This record gives sequence, C-alpha cells and structure tokens, in this order.
Amino acid sequence: MTIEHTLTSQERLAELDLDQLRQLVGLVSYDVDGDPFPVTGWDAVVWAVGNATQAALFYQAVFGMELVAYSGPETGNRDHHAYVLRSGAVRFVLKGGVDPASPLLDHHRTHGDGIVDIALEVPDVDRCIAHARTQGATVVEEPRDLTDEFGTVRVAAIATYGETRHSLVDRSRYTGPYLPGYVVRESGYRKPSGEPKRLFQALDHVVGNVALGDMDNWVAFYNRVMGFTNMAEFVGEDIATEYSALMSKVVANGNHRVKFPLNEPAVGKRRSQIDEYLDFYAGPGAQHLALATNDIVTTVDVLRAHGVEFLSTPDSYYTDPALRARIGNVRVPIEELSSRGILVDRDEDGYLLQIFTKPIGDRPTVFFEFIERHGSLGFGKGNFQALFEAIEREQAKRGNF
Ligand SMILES: [Fe+2]
Repeated sequence: MTIEHTLTSQERLAELDLDQLRQLVGLVSYDVDGDPFPVTGWDAVVWAVGNATQAALFYQAVFGMELVAYSGPETGNRDHHAYVLRSGAVRFVLKGGVDPASPLLDHHRTHGDGIVDIALEVPDVDRCIAHARTQGATVVEEPRDLTDEFGTVRVAAIATYGETRHSLVDRSRYTGPYLPGYVVRESGYRKPSGEPKRLFQALDHVVGNVALGDMDNWVAFYNRVMGFTNMAEFVGEDIATEYSALMSKVVANGNHRVKFPLNEPAVGKRRSQIDEYLDFYAGPGAQHLALATNDIVTTVDVLRAHGVEFLSTPDSYYTDPALRARIGNVRVPIEELSSRGILVDRDEDGYLLQIFTKPIGDRPTVFFEFIERHGSLGFGKGNFQALFEAIEREQAKRGNF
C-alpha cells in the first residue's frame, strides 16, 4: 500500500476524496517504502496569539471556520485558553496565555501573533523521531502517549527554524475532538444565511522565512531529517532585482500534501519584505499559509465583505498583453480577476489563481494566501514581480522601506 491511499483524519471528517485533493493541493502518488520519515499530511497549525478568545471569533465570523474543541481553565488547563477550529481539512489551534507566567505570553511578547507549531500527521512517530535523531535534529519532545476516554494519541516534536516546531502526531487510535484534555466545544456564533459552507477546504503550503544565508541549510534539514524532496520552483536573485529581492526554494513530503517554501532575503536596492518580517517577528518564522479553495472568486468576495484586506495588484498587471499571452485560457474572465485583484500563473502542468491578504496581526509578519489550483503545482513564481511591487507599496506606507 502506498501512503497516498491514506486520508488524514481531518480529510475524512471533511469528506474530501483523493481526486479532490489532487486538484486542490496537488496530491501525488509515491512509494512510501523508501521514505525514512513518512508523513501522511497536515495535523494542525498551532498559533500563539495575544487574545485567543477574540481570535477564535475572528476565524469563525471572518474566515468561516467552525469551533470544534477547547481547553482552558474550565477544563483544568490553568495556563492558557486553546480553541480548535476547522474548515474542511484545515485545523487551527489558537492559544493565548491566562496565567501571567505562561510561556505563551513570553512567546507573544517576543514574536507577536504567530505560528508556534506546524504539526504533521505521521503513521509512526517513533520511527520518525529515531530517524530525525540520527540526522542531528533537535528533539524537543520525546515520543509519549496521551490518553483519555477517546483513546490514545502518540506525539513527539522536533525543532525547526526560529522558535517553530513540528509536532508529529499519530491519532490512528483516537476518536476525540482534538487531543486528550480537550473537550468538544460548539459555538453560539451563527453564520449568516446564504454564505458558503466553508471558504477553504485544505492547507496547501506553509512558507518559512529564514535568515540571510540560511535557506540552503533549511532545505538540507528537510531533505536529510524529514526525507522531503525539492520541488522544481526556485526563485533566485534574478527575480525582481529592481526591487528588494528574496531567494526561495520549496521542499515537499512524498505525497506533496505538505509543501514548505523557504525564503531568505536577498540583497536588493531597498530593504526586503523578508528583512521586515525577520525584524518584526524577531527572528525566523512562518510567513504565510496558503489555503486551498475550489472557488476563489466566491471566497474572495465573502472575505472582502467580512472586511479582509488583500494586497492590491497594479492595473498594469491585467492590461499587460504579455500576461494574457502567458496565462492563456483560465476558467474566470480576466475582468473578474482584475476587479478582485486575483493573480494568475501558468506552468507546463496547468495554472493557478492566487491572492494574498495583508498581515493579519498588528505586526507586519504573518499573512494568508488563497489558492485555486488547476493542474499547476507551482507557487506563483510568475507573479513575484507584480507581487513585490504591491507588497512594497504597503511597506512604504508603514515607513519600513
Ligand atoms: Fe504561497
């Protein structure tokens, strides 16, 4: 059996099938037998935020997510509140400190709102940790069982860039709402009638920003420690040299559910957006999450009506005859894309539609991408130039350019 036949627990809950996942996130078949660190897919994105109670409402009312589980003082957890939300196969866990001595508050003081854990579902936690250790990874949590009346979850964690970690989770013997210690929680929030059931179905990729000169080290880390392979997309200094630049390479797990583009700043005429992130996040960290939708037009319309702000795209992007030549036929008329600021990119496998939000917290750090794939397994390399111009206009408004 190969691992692409396995759906993650979240995908099963979301009633997604393999065909949908092939289209949404570019799922591929691969031979799991040769994989030293088999990863099934995403388990959760865990955030440390300044106010988890309010953020939980934000992700319900604005992003259309559903509150499903909770841990906090009422459940015996006196350190912090934790709210578990989902949309399709995407699971967010929002944590905010309650006890003034909570380490989450220290984390937030340093980094602001950010991602502390990109947790992955794996079939064999111990095997992964054993391999990671031989490859020199830092094991921040040894494998252990967590048990309650819903069963047992096996977990461990390794360190990645900055203060970010990858928890490794085997929940094959567990039926609870998230992890032992969490209780089912339903929200009193009611979605306005007429809105789509969900605005995104799956997590496509999580981008990490690392320090100048470190990108290749982290690519090597994912190759060596986690058996990830390099994807074709490579952004070098030749891109956007008129503006501040970045370098980017992409690694992916065997079935391509988990894709990690890794950016480092490159020397440009001005201070780069990656430098700005590293300054305001106080170090390396997760820069953006790409959420996969099968109807980006509706997703963007609903999010915008909820007040989400997206990066604007220069009009010249859509009127440029080279764009039309580059992208060919796409399912949405250019005028529809233009009025919403949705970008298009095409490669030999197909095309993708994408759009980026402004940073979602107070610091100019973490933001979201929404992506609708049609065959392309890329990340929008062709849009880097247009995107850079848009991001840097915002950076200049903040006085950081
Ligand atoms: Fe992206």
